[in-house]
Amino acid sequence: MWTYENPVRISFGAGSLDRIGDLVHGRAYCLVTYDEAMFHDIAGRIAASAGPAALIIDNVIPNPDFLMLAEACARFAAAQPSPEVIVALGGGSVMDASKVVAAGGNGFDAVKRYLQDGASAEALTATPIIAIPTTAGTGSEVTSWASVWDTEAERKYSLSRRSLYATDALIDSELMVGMTRELTVSTALDALSHSLESIWNVMGNPISTDYAVNAAMEILTILPALVDDLGNLDLRSRMAQAATFAGLAFSNTKTALAHSISYPITLRHGTPHGFACSFSLPMVMRSAIGASATCDTGLRRIFGEDLSAGADRLEEFLVTLGVSVDKADYGVKDEEWRALIESALTGERGRNFIGSHERVIESLGAA
Ligand SMILES: [Fe+2]
Repeated sequence: MWTYENPVRISFGAGSLDRIGDLVHGRAYCLVTYDEAMFHDIAGRIAASAGPAALIIDNVIPNPDFLMLAEACARFAAAQPSPEVIVALGGGSVMDASKVVAAGGNGFDAVKRYLQDGASAEALTATPIIAIPTTAGTGSEVTSWASVWDTEAERKYSLSRRSLYATDALIDSELMVGMTRELTVSTALDALSHSLESIWNVMGNPISTDYAVNAAMEILTILPALVDDLGNLDLRSRMAQAATFAGLAFSNTKTALAHSISYPITLRHGTPHGFACSFSLPMVMRSAIGASATCDTGLRRIFGEDLSAGADRLEEFLVTLGVSVDKADYGVKDEEWRALIESALTGERGRNFIGSHERVIESLGAA
């Protein structure tokens, strides 16, 4: 028995940003975005279509932390007129910050208590979100959770609430054409990780796996071409669609071991999420092979009959893109790695992983 559900209405296609006026529909809105020229330009187009924003929060930092989010929630609570909807324009960090603001309409303290103790759920709000991703990778526009970082305490939380699903995702590949090579690669690898992590996942189901297989095959095909042709709108659209499929896959399973491994590496060594959650994929794949017939079948649809050779090809794929699969290149020493794998296996995402602990410790060289 299984269930699949995703309530986000997706409008996909080059130029779909023009629909924003219809979606906002005269409501007072809060725009959450980055303080960069490209985002100011798009904010101008949004204002032309939906009217001026009641509030603009444009100081979103990568991996938004308690400090930044507390200030954003306070500004949101004090805004006049009170915003009825949040327009999230940007990458994963903007999506995460928008979800926290959506839940933190009564102030960030309620969100913090909920994250730390599961308390104060009744004090959380659920402001609707219209998500406009400008990268192809995070999938956050179709998931119901947000990463929240307590940088000082070196902790990463996940704010997970059904009410945090966006009402709408406007996925316009024209907004993604200006991405640098590095951002293109890191975000695409994040999407690849989402798709594979939803396959080697105890929460997997036939629909999530189907989305994941489609996404992974497309990313493996397109990314090498896209990095040599960053301005190609057709390739950008295909990558955006693949990232959306990966998002729909892991929206129902969450991620697994590779993501669990990534969080301390991002916190301690500053590795961008897309690299931190993907460099270990070949190792994690080797430890997943044979753990479940359903998982093997899904992986064979992507990598062919010989899954060991497939893991080798995945490693080659990363290395060819300039992504090292060696933990040392991310500043992680042997001792830290062993402790990190142990704790990754017992973390919430790690427990989703389908393979055995012994195989992981062997395949990831953490014995
Ligand atoms: Fe991710």
